[in-house]
Amino acid sequence: MQCFATNRCAMDGPGGERSGAGSGGGSARSGAGNEASEGDHRAELFLRGAQEYRWLAAQARVWEPATRRALQAAGLAAGQSVLDAGCGTCEVLPLLAERVGPGGRVTGLDIDGPLAEQALRQLSRGPPLAALPGVCRIVAGDLLALPQVAVGPFDFVFARSLIFDTARPAMRPTPTSRSEARRLQPPPSAHSLPLPHLAHALLRRLWALVRAGGTLLVIEHDVTAMRPLAPQAAFERATRLIGAATRAPPLDAATGTQLPRLFEAAGIGAVDGCDVSSAIEPAAPSAALLRSLLADARDTLIAVALADEIELHRLDGDLAAADEACLRWPDLVAAWKRKAA
Ligand SMILES: C[S@@+](CC[C@H](N)C(=O)[O-])C[C@H]1O[C@@H](n2cnc3c(N)ncnc32)[C@H](O)[C@@H]1O
Repeated sequence: MQCFATNRCAMDGPGGERSGAGSGGGSARSGAGNEASEGDHRAELFLRGAQEYRWLAAQARVWEPATRRALQAAGLAAGQSVLDAGCGTCEVLPLLAERVGPGGRVTGLDIDGPLAEQALRQLSRGPPLAALPGVCRIVAGDLLALPQVAVGPFDFVFARSLIFDTARPAMRPTPTSRSEARRLQPPPSAHSLPLPHLAHALLRRLWALVRAGGTLLVIEHDVTAMRPLAPQAAFERATRLIGAATRAPPLDAATGTQLPRLFEAAGIGAVDGCDVSSAIEPAAPSAALLRSLLADARDTLIAVALADEIELHRLDGDLAAADEACLRWPDLVAAWKRKAA
């Protein structure tokens, strides 16, 4: 996560009420630059590890060129209003703001509003957001539960890694943090749906937020493409285990590749375009990817007896120590569609 000097950002509640930067209860507790407490706070809020949030930022850097290419191909233009649904640590907001410029508007929506607000506040202190004051803002809420996202419809609706993420069992709250869980818990009616029904519900919601003549761009991964490029025991074992866990219902490891079919099944119609990107990365970032995915898959792997705590702990250590291995990463698939004017 980058840290810069100060600028302002604002956070809107689901109903559109606006508050000054830092007014979110969570963010007020975690000071900028205090990475440990900030990470702990995020983990507490979202019931995941701080490592994952550092990882989201690292991953975003790898996927930045492909994301820029998809934004260009899908036609995001100066002056447009954009929704980034499931914006997470706001890694894409600067790319969106750069394209829409000072006359545009970028809204980041996330079920974990304080996390997104904190991330935007940090990013707003440096380029390019420092030069685009007021262009970006955060709306906190559940895409599926909000009666409407405050200022929709939008010229351009964007979502990256939202469908797969929403379906992950890791999203489900644990009994250890019930109060936060209640606040963040997706409504069971929508989120207990198996994929592809959940994907259809998300896509229909995103499509409904696109104004006539506007565009929907969705980016998802295909984990089945991931493989080590040379024999390396820890990488091979981790890849096999992650493959098994991400194929377990309700997940679909090939969600990215399924996007054109999901668009059609959701009633949006045939996509106008698709872009598939691959990345081959050296040992350190690849080990970080595998450790993060393995941490996510941990509960599933233990539940279905594919691995136990001891093996997973040992494998995590082996991955951390692996220094000569290359990995072909999951594919990143972008699909977009323009709504009739
Ligand atoms: C894997 S992260 C991706 C973040 C960001 N789009 C990116 O590509 O870096 C998925 C994000 O979606 C958010 N999310 C999941 N389900 C959501 C929902 N139903 N409504 C709003 N946000 C949701 C999560 O809080 C998380 O921050």
